[in-house]
Amino acid sequence: MRASIGLVGLLASVQHVLAGTLPSKIYGVNIGGWLVLEPWMLPAEWEAMGGQICSDCSQCIGSEWSYTKAYPNIANAEFAKHWSTWFTQDDVNQLVADGINTARIPLGFWLVEPLVNRATEFYPEGGIVYLQQGVKMLSDAGIQVILDHHALPGVQTGDASFTGNCTEYVEFYTDYNYQRALVWTAVMTSLSHLDPNFASVFAIEAVNEPIMDADQTPGYGTFQKEFVDTVRAVELTLGIPVPGLLASGLPSRNTLVTTCAIPSFRRCLGLTVLYLVRFMDINWQYNNPSNPADAAIGPQGYDNHLYYSFGGVAAANPTAYMESICNLNRVQADAALGDTPLWFGEWGLPTQFNATDEFLYMWADAQKLAYSQGAGWIFWNFKVEQSELAGNLSRQWSYIEGVKLGFLTQDPSQYHNANVCEPYLTTS
Ligand SMILES: *[C@@H]1O[C@H](CO)[C@@H](O)[C@H](O)[C@H]1NC(C)=O
Ligand SMILES: *[C@@H]1O[C@H](CO)[C@@H](O)[C@H](O)[C@H]1NC(C)=O
Ligand SMILES: *[C@@H]1O[C@H](CO)[C@@H](O)[C@H](O)[C@H]1NC(C)=O
Repeated sequence: MRASIGLVGLLASVQHVLAGTLPSKIYGVNIGGWLVLEPWMLPAEWEAMGGQICSDCSQCIGSEWSYTKAYPNIANAEFAKHWSTWFTQDDVNQLVADGINTARIPLGFWLVEPLVNRATEFYPEGGIVYLQQGVKMLSDAGIQVILDHHALPGVQTGDASFTGNCTEYVEFYTDYNYQRALVWTAVMTSLSHLDPNFASVFAIEAVNEPIMDADQTPGYGTFQKEFVDTVRAVELTLGIPVPGLLASGLPSRNTLVTTCAIPSFRRCLGLTVLYLVRFMDINWQYNNPSNPADAAIGPQGYDNHLYYSFGGVAAANPTAYMESICNLNRVQADAALGDTPLWFGEWGLPTQFNATDEFLYMWADAQKLAYSQGAGWIFWNFKVEQSELAGNLSRQWSYIEGVKLGFLTQDPSQYHNANVCEPYLTTS
């Protein structure tokens, strides 16, 4: 990895730097399908690249792993083409026009290339430069950024292309892979503080969607603490004081260089911005999960994802959906356990039934109302492919298309009907 963090470039761009901050209410989108490619979101492009779509993604060329294994000679070039076309300045301009203030960027561990064991692991190379360009576009546009470790070494959940390797062999929850994830964390934390391209990054998310059954995630609680320690240790080293750490036996601030002689652009700007670290909330898991709130040193935020379309949330009809979302109490349940602020890092308009336009206006309003009881929301996804093969996919999965079709209001803080939930509320 050769990030361009030369001091000259750094100082030259300092006047343009916006410090990443947590917006008072998050109106966000995911930049999914980009640095972690999920074939279902862009089926025609994936097939044109030589990939395959099948119902069990482990049985065909259905992930970055299997693609890179199948096409070792062209994978880097094909992915470079994808990275430079899937998410562009035009998209950023559209997101600004749509009032979006936050972007969550799903990332794979393989972006930090020395972590990849090339003898046994197959991932494209070169993505880090596109990440730098992407966060710069967002930062220049005033959009705040969350780096999301979305695809973990060893894969954190089975049979999912969003882990980079669609496989039943889940090996993340081992010392070797926890260690690799911590190195990744240190690199991303350093980049965020040192590279002005990352100026609007304000948070780093440890693990996207670990297995829900905590019995199957041994060591995850310890990893949560080590994740926080890693972020704060890097920050201390860069001269950013971490409240609470200095008293607990770590190097005292006097032993750290705290002037602009050290290459932390945020500190040179007089900003002592701590990263906000972010975990999936405790209620993501069951079977006596560890509470990420117990790991906190400094600012922390919590993530919950809610999709109705995969089943298990509400009966498959419009009334049941509205009754469920209008009485959602996840924000309160998390807060009672210390997991606050909570914002919903993934949701969308998909349904298990063919939704009418009329329903989608209500469905968008009701979800936004529910998630805004917390710190806000981040839609999945900023866009999906529009092609014959993709069919109607963008109608319910694309934020930009949802605004165009009118389901999502042009100003994300607004509603078609702010009282949409009234008929569906049970007792308060
Ligand atoms: C990735 O997937 C392949 C094919 O299913 C499997 O053999 C391999 O063990 C997986 N690697 C990891 C780290 O899960
Ligand atoms: C939705 O509509 C499509 C096309 O009109 C149809 O093929 C499909 O069976 C419908 N799905 C449901 C769940 O009703
Ligand atoms: C796609 O959406 C249109 C407009 O809502 C609808 O008429 C059509 O039936 C949908 N097609 C499928 C396959 O669901």
